[in-house]
Amino acid sequence: MIKALVLSGGKGTRLRPITHTGAKQLVPIANKPILFYVLENIINLGIKDIGVIIAPETGEAVKQALGNGERWKANITYILQPEPAGLAHAVKMAQDFLQDSPFLMYLGDNLIGTNLRHFYEQFLTYKPDAQILLKPVRNPQHFGVAEIDEQGQVKRLIEKPKEPPSNLALVGVYMFSPKIHEAIAEIKPSWRGELEITDAIQRLLDWKCAVLSDILDEWWLDTGKKDDLLEANTIVLDEWIKRNVQGEVINSNISGRVVLPAHSKVINSQIRGPVVIGEGVVIENSFIGPFTSIGHNSRILNSSLEHCVLLDGVEIINIERLEDGLIGRNTKVIKNSSLPKALKLMVGDDSIIEIP
Ligand code: G1P
Repeated sequence: MIKALVLSGGKGTRLRPITHTGAKQLVPIANKPILFYVLENIINLGIKDIGVIIAPETGEAVKQALGNGERWKANITYILQPEPAGLAHAVKMAQDFLQDSPFLMYLGDNLIGTNLRHFYEQFLTYKPDAQILLKPVRNPQHFGVAEIDEQGQVKRLIEKPKEPPSNLALVGVYMFSPKIHEAIAEIKPSWRGELEITDAIQRLLDWKCAVLSDILDEWWLDTGKKDDLLEANTIVLDEWIKRNVQGEVINSNISGRVVLPAHSKVINSQIRGPVVIGEGVVIENSFIGPFTSIGHNSRILNSSLEHCVLLDGVEIINIERLEDGLIGRNTKVIKNSSLPKALKLMVGDDSIIEIP
C-alpha cells in the first residue's frame, strides 16, 4: 500500500510576522488552509494512510486543523520532528510510520494548479526508486535544481546552486520506494545544516537506481513568502471560485464570482468578484474589489479594498484604499482622519494600526 507523508513542520520564519503565531501551512488561501489543498490532492489519488510531520512550535495548531483525517475519510498519523533538520531528516523521523511502503512526499506549503494523477500513474507504471516533479522557474538558485539530458533522464540534482545547471526547480512533491531510507542513512548535513532530500536522491543516482522526472505544466507556488501568498490567493480565486451568494444583501451590488456564506451580511456596499468572504462577516458602506479574501468574523466599514488577504477577525474601518495587503488574525486597521494615499500593509496577528 502506498502511503503519503506531508511535511508540515518548520518555523515559517520567511512569512513573519504572519506566521509568528501559527504554522505557514495553515495560512488560508481563498479562506482555506494551504494544507487542505494538499490533503485533497493526496486523497484524490486514493491514498488514505497519511503521516503528517509536525514541529513542536506549531504542531498543536496543525493537529487541531486536520484532526484524525475523518473529514477526508483518511487516517492521519502525526509524527514529531523535534527540530527543522531538513526534509530527509523528516523522512527519517517517519520511518516507523512508513515501514517498507512506497510513498508520496508532499511539502505542506506547496500549492499546485493541478491534480497529481499523471505523476502518480507514471510512478505506478515504472516503479522507479524516486520520482521528482520539475518546473522551469526564473530563480532556480532558491530551489533544488535538476540537470536532465535530451531524453529527459535526470543526470544530477543540486540544492540551491549558486550557478544553476538549468532552470528546472524541484517542486515539493516526490515519490519514493523504500530504497530512499538507505540513501538517507548515507548522507551528511548540507552547508545549511540540514539533511537534504535532494542529496539523498542524488545518492540514488550515484547508485544507478531509477530516478524519473515529470514536468509540471500548471502553476506552482511555494507559499513561503508574502508575494507568493497574495499571488496564490489571486490564482486560486481566479481559477477555482464559483459564485455562491447565500448571505444577507441589503442595498448592495454583488457582481461576478463572489462567495458569501449564510451568516454574513453586506450593507450599502459594492463587491466585485472574484472575492471570498468568510462566516460571520459584516461589510458596510464599503467597496471590495477583485482578488480579495476576507476571513471569518471580520468587519469592514467605510473602506475600500482590493487584492488583499485578511485572516480571521480583522477590522478595517475608514480606510479609503487598501491594496496588496496581508493582514493577520484579529488585527484592527482604523483611520480617524483623511490621508490621501493608498495603504500597503503586511501586518501580523493581534495588531492594532491606528492612523490619526
Ligand atoms: C525545499 C527543497 C527544495 C525544493 C523546495 C520546494 O526547499 O529543499 O529542493 O525545491 O523545497 O518548495 P526549502 O523550502 O527547504 O528551502
